[in-house]
Amino acid sequence: MKNNMQPFVKWAGGKRQLVTEIKKRMPKDFNKYYEPFVGGGALFIDLKHDKSIINDFSKELVDAYLCIRDFPRELMEALSNHEAKHELNPKDYYYRIRALDREEGWYEKDLVTRTARFIYLNKSCFNGLYRVNKKGYFNVPFNSKLRVKTYDEDNILALSVYLKNHVNIYNGDFSAAVKDASKGDFVFFDPPYDLLKSDTFDSYNPDAFGVAGQRRLADLVMELTERGCYVMITNHNTPLINELYKDLNIDLVNVKRMINSDSKNRNGQEVIIYNYDLEETDETNF
Ligand SMILES: C[S@@+](CC[C@H](N)C(=O)[O-])C[C@H]1O[C@@H](n2cnc3c(N)ncnc32)[C@H](O)[C@@H]1O
Repeated sequence: MKNNMQPFVKWAGGKRQLVTEIKKRMPKDFNKYYEPFVGGGALFIDLKHDKSIINDFSKELVDAYLCIRDFPRELMEALSNHEAKHELNPKDYYYRIRALDREEGWYEKDLVTRTARFIYLNKSCFNGLYRVNKKGYFNVPFNSKLRVKTYDEDNILALSVYLKNHVNIYNGDFSAAVKDASKGDFVFFDPPYDLLKSDTFDSYNPDAFGVAGQRRLADLVMELTERGCYVMITNHNTPLINELYKDLNIDLVNVKRMINSDSKNRNGQEVIIYNYDLEETDETNF
């Protein structure tokens, strides 16, 4: 298996810069790996654990994992086609492809066609953001790059083999994804962030997850703790998060915040929370 596989999309809340801090605090040994809010999968792809379960609420994103698993060559061909057409007339081409989800029947198109659009837009839109308007149409502007590189062949092929042989992929709510998690498994939750005060003014942030989602997740964490699972959660360092997890270990880490219009707020504190004593996480415990 290729050692340095990389995420294939840029995703808001991506954990690339926290991977080292997270790995320092992971259990030393565990059975299955669960990531119910996988997003771009920075940690999941870095770990390459041999029995992994991933999930996300976003159907387009989960479909992209399935497409890479099942149709890597067809996907790369479709992506190369987008790259070539993009170069001929970048801005027009971007907006033409962006508008496809407004057409009737778009979501009945085949997996390769839909995933190629999804990845092409992710690589040529502003900041790699994924955002849809109230009608569910993708509405991020063009990043103005004349050329776009949408994939790395070795990476896609390595991801495909890994996903095929070692990973179960689900599209649903986080709670359903961990229903079979049991003693000795490791569950990493990277949920939508609890909002900071400064985010209230950020119109990019509809926060459908909300306080109710954070509470529902905290209840599930307690249930998984009772089952004997190792659980880790990352989030912003807010009063709500500190209250919900006050009985667990909470470590503060500094991060550069990427998507924030106010430069004073670009350095923030996040928390890494875990329900175990690191010293006691070798295989003798399960
Ligand atoms: C902070 S992002 C995860 C980032 C990811 N760890 C990475 O490195 O790219 C949170 C993810 O949770 C997903 N999500 C939101 N609500 C959800 C729910 N109820 N169940 C499962 N996933 C959900 C979003 O689609 C998003 O991909």
